[in-house]
Order: sequence, then structure tokens, then C-alpha cells
Amino acid sequence: MADWDVQAGVYDRQLFLERRAVEAALDLAQAGPDDVLLDAGTGTGAVLRALAARPLRPRTAIGVDASARMVDRVPPLPAGWLVQRADARDLPAEDRSVDVAIASYLLHVLEPGARRAALAELRRVLRPGARVVTVTVYVPERRRLRPLGAALETLARLAPERLGSLQPLDPRPDLIDAGFSLERARFTALGYPSLCVAACAPG
Ligand SMILES: C[S@@+](CC[C@H](N)C(=O)[O-])C[C@H]1O[C@@H](n2cnc3c(N)ncnc32)[C@H](O)[C@@H]1O
Repeated sequence: MADWDVQAGVYDRQLFLERRAVEAALDLAQAGPDDVLLDAGTGTGAVLRALAARPLRPRTAIGVDASARMVDRVPPLPAGWLVQRADARDLPAEDRSVDVAIASYLLHVLEPGARRAALAELRRVLRPGARVVTVTVYVPERRRLRPLGAALETLARLAPERLGSLQPLDPRPDLIDAGFSLERARFTALGYPSLCVAACAPG
């Protein structure tokens, strides 16, 4: 698996490939000014940066990432927003204290056990009925796209440390297993082929 501390120095070079999916995820999240937003696996803050540029944004946002170097590279954010080093399986938030959670390009870089643990933790911190939005690399099951899906899987397998984050994942079965109800999904093809899924925590 990737060493994110090592990748942190060059991570921003590829952010343009995430841009379309991150904007789609924020559209699905619909976070309002009074919401507490949590960005799990924030990296260098791609989601928080895009959110900060929006006129309607939460007054409180928390970004967490397991990599200290990633966290160090998050640029200054609006007052009231906080970024800290933490594992997505052990979030620094009270039970039922978060209104909107985002996990952008996180779930597919986790091993299945860690993925389940991170989703259980997101469920713990989300208020009943609150929304989680995930973004994962994903290639739809269409015949003409099969070579692309196969190519991404091969690259991820051949160089897991550098390209493991290209491993496609449909997170919907894991979200359902974790107790979330699926709301909407959007596929974005520009940049990394990506699936954005909005799901609801149990009420
Ligand atoms: C592909 S990057 C995505 C970063 C950011 N969300 C984005 O959209 O650009 C994956 C991030 O997940 C972080 N990560 C990996 N495992 C983690 C874990 N168990 N808990 C928290 N963060 C983790 C890595 O350090 C890395 O910053």
C-alpha cells in the first residue's frame, strides 16, 4: 500500500484529476452554514479547499488524515476549520456530532477490514439521518469501458505503493453493510473516472 508521507510532497500535482469529482461530491453533500462537516482522509485538503471557495459553506469543518506530511501541506483554511492527524478508524469526534461527512478517494485505498472499520466509525460520529458522501475511483460495468477498468486494476496491482490508489471500487455494498441507506450516485469521467455516492446514516 502507498506510503502517504512519501507521496505528500507531490500529491498536489494530480489534484486537477480529482477536481470534477470533488465538486460533484460537494454538490451531493449540500453542506449548509450550520452543519458540522468532517472530511475523512483529507490528504492535502482538496475537499476543504474546494468547499472554502464556495459562498455557502459550513462554519465548522474538520479534516483528518493519518499522514502527518499530508496534514502539514493543507493550506490555510477559513477560521473555525481544523485539520488534524487521526486515523479514519478512530475519529476525533463525539458520537452523533457530525452533520455531513466526506470520504474523498479514501475508501478504495483501505484494505477491506480497514474500510469496514472506517465506515463504522463514520456511522458512529454522524447524527441520525445525516449524510456521508464518498468518492472512489470507479469504472462502470460497460463493455467499452472494461479495458479501462482492467488497465487501472493492473497498474494498481503492479505498483501498489505509487499507483494503488487507482484501484477501482464501488463502495455501495460496503455502505449498505455498514447500515447506510443509499441516496444518490454520480459518475464523473473527466479526470480520474470516479463514483460519488451520497448515503444516509440510520435515523
Ligand atoms: C488518495 S488520498 C485522498 C486525499 C484527499 N481526500 C483527496 O481527495 O485528495 C488518500 C488519503 O487517505 C489517507 N489515509 C489512508 N489511510 C488512512 C486512515 N486509515 N485514516 C486516515 N487517513 C488515511 C492518506 O494519508 C491520504 O492522504
